[in-house]
Amino acid sequence: MQIVLEKIQKYYKVGKNRLHILKNLDLEIDFGEFIMIMGKSGSGKTTLLNSLGFLDKIDEGKYFFEGTDVSNLSESKRAEFRASYVGFIFQQFNLIDTLNVYQNVEIPLIYAGVKDKKLRKQLIEKRLDDVGLLHKASSYPNHLSGGQQQRVAIARALVNNPKIIFADEPTGALDTDTGNEVMRLLSELNNLGTTIIMVTHDPDMIKYASRVITLKDGVFEKEV
Ligand SMILES: Nc1ncnc2c1ncn2[C@@H]1O[C@H](COP(=O)(O)OP(=O)(O)OP(=O)(O)O)[C@@H](O)[C@H]1O
Ligand SMILES: [Mg+2]
Repeated sequence: MQIVLEKIQKYYKVGKNRLHILKNLDLEIDFGEFIMIMGKSGSGKTTLLNSLGFLDKIDEGKYFFEGTDVSNLSESKRAEFRASYVGFIFQQFNLIDTLNVYQNVEIPLIYAGVKDKKLRKQLIEKRLDDVGLLHKASSYPNHLSGGQQQRVAIARALVNNPKIIFADEPTGALDTDTGNEVMRLLSELNNLGTTIIMVTHDPDMIKYASRVITLKDGVFEKEV
């Protein structure tokens, strides 16, 4: 198994109150799966994704990533895991407007400590070519369409050869055709072996998944 969760709990403190967000979740995810996480707004989808992707820590329970217990990693260790093993894609793309396309895709390589400029160039150009945007390398994000921006974000997520891609409503801000284009790209990646864990509200996306998981108030409702 690539990911194993055992009875994880996640809370948020709000003032004096403690909100129980993820409740006693067990989950196993195998290499190469394409998982869709569905569920109503506020059910805990983003919280789960961020916990799995080392953006956030779990409060109780066990998280095993490829057999390693990562339940209690320090902030800096989590950053290391994030830089080395995972790629993130967000609804609003989260590109940096003051950097051009090439520089945006370069960021994860700099975080990961890839010092060789030539190697960085090779990796960046390959990924931009994969998403069909090599010709836009020196453009700035606000001169691109939404679909193009999301493809840059995908290139950025992929440039480190991550083992898992986490995508939080990656088609949420795109029209149907552009959304499907992004989904085809994710499917191709999945076919090449990359595990994908994606949050969506859109039932039309289910066709791309190998498994659908539904969260309801922080509990898994059913598995299809
Ligand atoms: N930093 C935070 N502090 C306090 N409460 C939070 C925090 N982040 C999220 N929450 C609460 O945790 C619950 C789950 O939030 P989460 O963002 O995981 O939901 P979601 O399923 O992703 O919703 P959506 O579909 O709207 O994106 C919600 O009730 C939310 O208000
Ligand atoms: Mg969310």
